[in-house]
Amino acid sequence: MTTIAEIMQTAPVIPVIVVDDVEHAVPLARGLVAGGLRVLEVTLRTSAALDAIRAMKLVEGAIVGAGTVTNQHELADAIDAGSEFIVSPGLTESLGKAAIRDEIPFLPGIANASDIMRGLDLGLTHFKFFPAMAAGGLPALKALAAPFGQCRFCPTGGITLENAPDWLSFDPVLCVGGSWVAPRGPVDEHQVEEIARQAAGMRR
Ligand code: 3PG
Repeated sequence: MTTIAEIMQTAPVIPVIVVDDVEHAVPLARGLVAGGLRVLEVTLRTSAALDAIRAMKLVEGAIVGAGTVTNQHELADAIDAGSEFIVSPGLTESLGKAAIRDEIPFLPGIANASDIMRGLDLGLTHFKFFPAMAAGGLPALKALAAPFGQCRFCPTGGITLENAPDWLSFDPVLCVGGSWVAPRGPVDEHQVEEIARQAAGMRR
């Protein structure tokens, strides 16, 4: 089974994707994968999201997961649609237990020490730091990571091409998440490929 750690180390940036129209899904996925960003997080924020996951999975090289998964019902829908990993903005015990039971790679959001401790209680060590900039930016994550040396992070929320290298140079950060690489609306595949190529070029 692929682990969340392996998925996080596949590319430096995980695009956070909002799909309004399933027609946009495949060109977007093709552009991102061609540019080197293979791990795609499709947020369950629109009615097109589950169909978008199904469609994007057919793009060769794409590793497609669901984001904004906030409860067990959404988890079941996301797995049904073929999601290969699950991202949540937060962490409840019920969602965490269900994801572990379903043996699906799971990246829950944390923003403080108690969130991390709830994750550790469940046996989880890999977390999304969300909302990264609003929750104090890199200084906050450095302070938070210090007592939890076994944990690894994907900051998301306010990450840009400009600030991503700073985050990626902090060892416990395996990758960053961001919507800037995945424009909303009709897609110019080549333009997306170029944006993705810049992002994928950032190495740790
Ligand atoms: C998310 O939905 O995970 C983040 O809100 C994405 O944040 P961004 O739009 O600031 O990249």
